[in-house]
Amino acid sequence: MKARRRGLIIAMDGPAGVGKSTVGGLVAKALGYKFINTGEMYRALTWKALESGVDLDDDQAVLALAKRHHWEFKPVEEGGTTLKTFLDGQGVTLQIRDERVSVNSSRVAANPGVRKFLSKLQRELGASGSIVMEGRDITTHVFPDADAKIYLDASPEERASRRYRQLKAAGQEADRGAILSAILKRDLNDLKREINPLKQAPDALVIDSTHLTMHQVADRILRHVRRKAKRNAG
Ligand code: DC
Repeated sequence: MKARRRGLIIAMDGPAGVGKSTVGGLVAKALGYKFINTGEMYRALTWKALESGVDLDDDQAVLALAKRHHWEFKPVEEGGTTLKTFLDGQGVTLQIRDERVSVNSSRVAANPGVRKFLSKLQRELGASGSIVMEGRDITTHVFPDADAKIYLDASPEERASRRYRQLKAAGQEADRGAILSAILKRDLNDLKREINPLKQAPDALVIDSTHLTMHQVADRILRHVRRKAKRNAG
């Protein structure tokens, strides 16, 4: 554990739909840490650009838009541990789940200036520790010196099935084939991106959650984190 930090920095990466947010939230709650899903930041900027009519392929204009707004990360409810993104004081939780945002966010995530800008915000947010942060480049780029690094994986078919069941349970229409092809497309975008693509850090604990529940995954991470904390303290 680094002396200047109050608690650990736990970094987690993995592909879309693998359950990083569910697991990250469980781990953070168990430890009394904050939790943040950094994908929400890329989504928030994508939403803002679509709203403002900014061309998503104009890298400079999208970066200028990011810099023009005031970014805050705070829980929605008093005492909450999950930090949500606010732009100029406005919460964007619902807006950023719009299909248009999902489809277009990889264009914003490929913008080098935006990645640099958001990585800086993420480092500031995590600098004092006691945080679980998840995304695609947290273990490799944002916090390569994190106290614990996790790479969460699951087969594309299993991730598609989970999403399908979620939608069905919510009473929504769902097409398993369409969900799977969207997941494969997002994997390709994340893996082939030129700057800070998704990859396993050599020192990350890799967990394949294909046959595990989210609670089982969270328990494995907690055991790993506690072992690390003990080693660092000793
Ligand atoms: O996790 P998500 O699908 O909500 O992420 C939204 C987009 O942001 C997606 O295109 C992946 C990208 N992303 C990224 O490039 N780096 C991160 N640290 C987090 C998300």
